[in-house]
Order: sequence, then C-alpha cells, then structure tokens
Amino acid sequence: MTALIRTRADLRRCVTAWKRAGQSVGVVPTMGALHAGHLSLVEAAKAACDRVIVTIFVNPAQFNNPADLAGYPRTEEADAVKLAPLAVDVIYVPAPEEIYPEGFATKVSVTGLTEGLCGAHRPGHFDGVTTVVAKLFAQTGADRAYFGEKDYQQLQVVTRMAADLDLPVEVVPCPTVREPDGLAMSSRNMRLPSETRAAAATLYRVLTGMAADLGQGAALADLRPAAEAALQEAGFDRVEYLDLRAARDLAPLDRAGPPARLLAAAWLGGVRLIDNIAVG
Ligand code: PAJ
Repeated sequence: MTALIRTRADLRRCVTAWKRAGQSVGVVPTMGALHAGHLSLVEAAKAACDRVIVTIFVNPAQFNNPADLAGYPRTEEADAVKLAPLAVDVIYVPAPEEIYPEGFATKVSVTGLTEGLCGAHRPGHFDGVTTVVAKLFAQTGADRAYFGEKDYQQLQVVTRMAADLDLPVEVVPCPTVREPDGLAMSSRNMRLPSETRAAAATLYRVLTGMAADLGQGAALADLRPAAEAALQEAGFDRVEYLDLRAARDLAPLDRAGPPARLLAAAWLGGVRLIDNIAVG
C-alpha cells in the first residue's frame, strides 16, 4: 500500500519506524508531471532499497522565471496513477510551508560547479535546488537518493553537496531515458507546440554527431558553428550553451581525452530544452 503523506511530522513517524526495523530507505526527489524517466529512477530505488519515498514538490526557490513556475505542470492525481504499479511506500507531497516555514532563512550553496552551463543562465537556480534537496534528504532520512543524468550538472552539484556536508546519503546516478526518436524525456516536453515536436529530437542528433567527431580528435570550436546552424535550421530559436566539460568537475575542455560530457541548452517554441551525452 502506498501512503500519501503531506506533512514532515507524518513522514518522520513513518521513517523512524522503518529505521528501527533496520530497513534501508531510498528517495526519488521530483517536481511531479512524472514520465518514464522519473519512473526509471523509482525502479532503481525499488531494486536496491527496502523502502522507497517519491517526493513531489514544485520548488519555487529554483525557478528564476515566474512564468516558468506558473506554467509548470501540476498533475498529482495522474502522478499517483503512474506510480501505482511500482508500489512505492510513500508519496510525499509537502505543502510549501512544510519546506519553507515562516521565517525560513537558510540557503545551501555550492560554488564552482554551479557557475557555468545552466548556472550562468539561471541565476539562483542551483541554490534553490541544493537548499530543497538538503531539506528533502533531512526530512526523508534517506540512505540513497536517485538522480537522473538528464540533469547532469544538477547531479554533480548534489553529489558535491552531499560529500561536502557529510550527509549520510549515497547519490546514485541513473541514465537518461529517451523517446524513440532520441529526445530526452522531460516534464517540459509537454509544453512544446506540436509543430516543433519532431524538430526537438535534433538536439540529441546534433550532440551524438558532435560526440562522434570529438571522439575522432576534432576540436569543439571547429564543430560548434555547424552544430548551431543545424539546430537553427531545425527551428531552434537560440542555443544557450553547447559545451564540452570534464565529466566530474565540469572543467571546460576543447577536445575529448579525459572522461568528458557534451552538454547543451537550447530554446525551441518557447521551451528551454537541455540534454547531454558522454564523450569517449
Ligand atoms: P524533475 O525535473 O522532476 O526531475 C526529477 C529527477 O528525474 C531528476 O533527478 C532528473 O534528473 C530525473 N529525470 C528527469 N528526466 C529524466 C530522464 N529523461 N531520464 C532520467 N532521469 C530523468 O530535477 C528536479 O525535478 C528538481 O530539480 C529536484 C531535484 C526534484 C529538486 O527540486
């Protein structure tokens, strides 16, 4: 039986009983509008943990754009239906005051890793993420937490935070789940105007092509103009970044060599899409 819990007091009671019984706890933090990408994280948690909590909280602190927050899909009932076959123990849907009670005045902020890529284009975003994730780790008492490589920078930032703060939680990375045409699944995809949906997969195709060329020794700077042109031709309005980074510390790279990641953010039909793939 899945319990729907809305307060941290109820959650604490539940988790305390599990811990007394010596059971391990996994958490999958989400903002809802669940799709197969989220569900793959839940499956990984179910396979490794005695108890699994899925959290659903649209975190205002990580939205730097009020229109994006207002338009973010909220589909709690449909989310519960999608989770039903997976039989998680708890769906935790806190009200905003359970996360940010009156007088809330603390911020968790990771430096360095948060400065480029999405961090450069979404001021304050990662502080919002790390603050809420630290709170969700504390409230759920999780031993393991599951994050998608789809949000690669977020995964690295959260891993760094947990290590730096000695949080007793293992951050477990999970591969990106894609649509049949390669588009990375995302809650934001449902906002893509239908006439742009086919073009959206161009982002993954461009990344895959570039990764092959980088693997052959090509320099990023020589590949970028054609990649940006291909995206623009497909209908993308603007490429926010298209960067090669060291897989672990996200240091900028010109060429493949050490384990690397190719990451991109681009706008299509008023929707900001991000994606990334391994290189080498
Ligand atoms: P959200 O975008 O709902 O994503 C929740 C988790 O699902 C993240 O770890 C994300 O990387 C993962 N995910 C999303 N799409 C995926 C895909 N196609 N394949 C694999 N995993 C995927 O990320 C957030 O919420 C928030 O920032 C959060 C961590 C919950 C903090 O508010």
